[in-house]
Amino acid sequence: MAGDAEVIDNYAVLGNPVSHSLSPRIHRIFAEQTGESLSYRAIELPEDGFRDGLLALKREGLRGANVTVPFKRQAWESCDHLSDRASAAGAVNTLSFDEDGAISGDNTDGVGLVRDLTGNLDLSLHKQKILILGAGGAVRGVLGPLLDLQPEEITIANRSLDKAHQLALDFSARGDIRVQAYADLGDEKFDLIINATAAGLQKKLPPIDAQILCQTTVCYDMLYSTDESTTFVDWAQGLGVRAHDGLGMLVEQAAESFYIWRKARP
Ligand code: ATR
Repeated sequence: MAGDAEVIDNYAVLGNPVSHSLSPRIHRIFAEQTGESLSYRAIELPEDGFRDGLLALKREGLRGANVTVPFKRQAWESCDHLSDRASAAGAVNTLSFDEDGAISGDNTDGVGLVRDLTGNLDLSLHKQKILILGAGGAVRGVLGPLLDLQPEEITIANRSLDKAHQLALDFSARGDIRVQAYADLGDEKFDLIINATAAGLQKKLPPIDAQILCQTTVCYDMLYSTDESTTFVDWAQGLGVRAHDGLGMLVEQAAESFYIWRKARP
């Protein structure tokens, strides 16, 4: 009706730092694709002020938020309701502010990774040998959906072995996970190697050796880079192996968050 102001729902990605996040661009494209009317911006919250910032944004009428480093655990702690996958992940990347004032949390990272691997990259993980490098929050978020694909086995290598053993224990009801020190990987070969360490943020590699690769190995970096390749992708491609960065995962996790909020699939 003429004169009626269009109501726009507001969303944001919360992180620190967050200014380089691609999420606002991705969600604006999703909104155009689906004809949904919404705004989406990046908001940097102080490292020690996540919960206060979140509650202030909720009071201002924010409808939902993505959460990125370093706040995914605190987001999980701030929720009144958690989806099963957020409970298992112990981390939340998608918040919804319900009309009754409650905060609901979900985790779309695992489904985002699996959709990129199996849909966009056309990999079948059934009966495949998967090596995961790292044992931090990023791994906890994706282990459940990876185990659901029934790979032959999942091995986790990490510098601190106790963190890897804890993950194996926490997910033991959903599948067997083997833990290996980097130095003990030897020349065992894997079908898929997923880098989930933070080493690439300092342009470093985790302590891995070319021996773990064979011609058919696929390498996947959960980090992404918009200009040059990530350090891990560079390393693998330099050795003649197929490698992808995590941009597809970022888009897929965003699409799932968008669906949770808008019930529309980009
Ligand atoms: P995230 O939420 O991104 O997983 P995190 O929980 O801090 O962040 O975990 C970071 C992961 O990167 C850990 O597995 C860490 O290994 P340790 O647990 O042994 O510290 C790993 N990591 C960080 N820098 C690394 C490096 N230079 N080499 C190998 N692993 C590294």
